[in-house]
Amino acid sequence: MKSILLVKDLHVDLGEFKIEDITFTVDRGDYVCVIGPTGSGKTILIETIAGLYKPKRGSIILDGEDITDLPPEKRNIGIVYQDYALFPHMTVFDNIAFGLKKRISKKSEIIREVKTIAQKLGIEHILHRRPTTLSGGEQQRVALARALVVRPKLLLMDEPFSALDFKTRSRLRKLVRDVVSEYNTTVIHVTHDFEDVWSLANKVMVMYRGRILQYDTVEEVFNRPCSDFVADFIDINVMEGVVTCSNDKTIVRIGDLEIMSKDKVYEGSRVKVFIRPERVLILKYRPDKKFENILEGFVENIENRGSMIYVWARVNNILMKCAFTPNILNIVDFRIGDKVYLCFRSDDVRLFVFS
Ligand SMILES: Nc1ncnc2c1ncn2[C@@H]1O[C@H](COP(=O)(O)OP(=O)(O)OP(=O)(O)O)[C@@H](O)[C@H]1O
Ligand SMILES: [Mg+2]
Repeated sequence: MKSILLVKDLHVDLGEFKIEDITFTVDRGDYVCVIGPTGSGKTILIETIAGLYKPKRGSIILDGEDITDLPPEKRNIGIVYQDYALFPHMTVFDNIAFGLKKRISKKSEIIREVKTIAQKLGIEHILHRRPTTLSGGEQQRVALARALVVRPKLLLMDEPFSALDFKTRSRLRKLVRDVVSEYNTTVIHVTHDFEDVWSLANKVMVMYRGRILQYDTVEEVFNRPCSDFVADFIDINVMEGVVTCSNDKTIVRIGDLEIMSKDKVYEGSRVKVFIRPERVLILKYRPDKKFENILEGFVENIENRGSMIYVWARVNNILMKCAFTPNILNIVDFRIGDKVYLCFRSDDVRLFVFS
C-alpha cells in the first residue's frame, strides 16, 4: 500500500480555535513539511494525529488501522519537540531506551538498539550523561534517537531545530535526512524555516486559520502557489498581467512591462505571474549575455536575513524581490537608489490563468 497515513475530514474544536476540513494522505517514506503563519493550527494538527486532542469528527488511519480513538501510546507514532522534552532525571541511555523497554525485554537487545541509533546520530559517547549537561544540539539528537529507536510508523516533529544555531541546525538536518531515509521513516515536520523545506521535504502543506490551503510536492507549491496568500507566504513575486502573444513563447503585459514565459497560455488570458526571488539575477550593469527577461529598476530596500540577502527593486510601478546568498555582496555592493538590472529566464516565469 502506497499511502501510510490517511486523514479524512478531520475537525478539532478547541472553543476559540478550530481546525476544519482536514483531508490528506501521506505516502510511505514521504517527508512532509507543514508551514503556515503562527497560530494557523500546525501544532494542533500534528498533536491530534499523535492523539493529544480528540477530534470532533473525521478519521485518522495509520498503515491501514483506524487510530482515531486510540490513546497516544498505542499509535506507534514518535514525536519530537523544539524543547527536546527529555526526562531530566534519567541518563541519555535510559531516555533513549524508555520506549524500547515496553517492547523488548531482553537487556542485550535493548543495549544493541540504543547503541545503534546513538552511533548513527553521533551521541554514543554521551550515553551516560544527563540531559541537563548537554548542548541543545546534543539534546535534540537524543530526542530524535528516543523517537526513532522504536521505529515508529510515523515521526512527527514540531519545529525541532528552531532553538539551535545555524551551524548545528544544518548539521542536524543532514543527520535527520540520513537516518530517516535509512530507517525509511515517514515524517511530518512543522517548521518556519524554508531551508528545512528545501533540504528535507518532498511534500509541503501550507496551513492558515485551521485549514490546509495547499498540499503538494515542494516543486508544485513553490512553482504554482494556489493563491496570492500562499504566494506571499512563501515569499514569491506575484504580478498580474494579460497574455499578448502566445506563439513560440508567451508574452505577458504587466503595466508597461513585457515578460516572457515558457508556459503555454491563450492570448488574451488574464494571468498571475509567479517568479521565485532566487531565480532573479540582480546586476548593476546591463548584461551582455542574452537573458530573455531584463528589467531596469532601482533598489528600494535591502534586507539581510542571515543565510539570504533580499533586495527589493522597483521596476516602473512594480516591486520585485530578488534573493541571493551573502557572498555576492563581497563582489557587488548594492545600495538603496542604485540602478539595477533584473534578469531571469522565461522558464522561471510561471503563469496561472485566473479569468
Ligand atoms: N488547548 C488549546 N485550547 C484552545 N486554543 C488553543 C489550544 N492550543 C492552541 N490553541 C490556539 O489555537 C491556535 C493554533 O495554535 P497552534 O499551536 O496549532 O498554532 P501553530 O500553527 O502551531 O503556531 P506556531 O507557528 O506559533 O507554533 C492558536 O491561536 C492557539 O492560541
Ligand atoms: Mg506550533
